[in-house]
Amino acid sequence: MRLTDKNRQDLWKAATQALSQAYAPYSRLRVGASVLTANGHIYAGANVENASYGLSLCAERAAIAQAVAAEGPSMRLKAVAVASSQPGALTPCGACRQVILEFGSAALVLFPGEEGLLEVPITELLPHAFRLSKEALPGEK
Ligand code: THU
Repeated sequence: MRLTDKNRQDLWKAATQALSQAYAPYSRLRVGASVLTANGHIYAGANVENASYGLSLCAERAAIAQAVAAEGPSMRLKAVAVASSQPGALTPCGACRQVILEFGSAALVLFPGEEGLLEVPITELLPHAFRLSKEALPGEK
């Protein structure tokens, strides 16, 4: 799946804008994420922390929830961009990689590298991913 330069620019702008909305009083690490859906829309989200630390929500999953809320369960991801307040790259955590894969097995993940934005397929970030077999679902047999 190929992205246009405009896709990249729009994704990056949305991710960096979302970064300023982060609620991160505990880690002080602000993260912003944006997603481009197969319908051509962009949605964004930021990390939302909690005093009970384990309840903190990552920016990527916040952005994906926005996209599902707007487009419904058929929402598919073309790309996800991640920006953060830390110097250097921040790539999605393992949990977010699994959630990205659920909505787009060909999704591209954009994050800053040493020479500009890197664009890596989600399957490269999450090789041998967990997949639920149909037979394991209730009522299928
Ligand atoms: N965080 C994200 O938002 N996305 C990631 O992929 C990694 C971590 C957030 C969660 C928490 O608010 C802060 O970064 C520090 O872990």
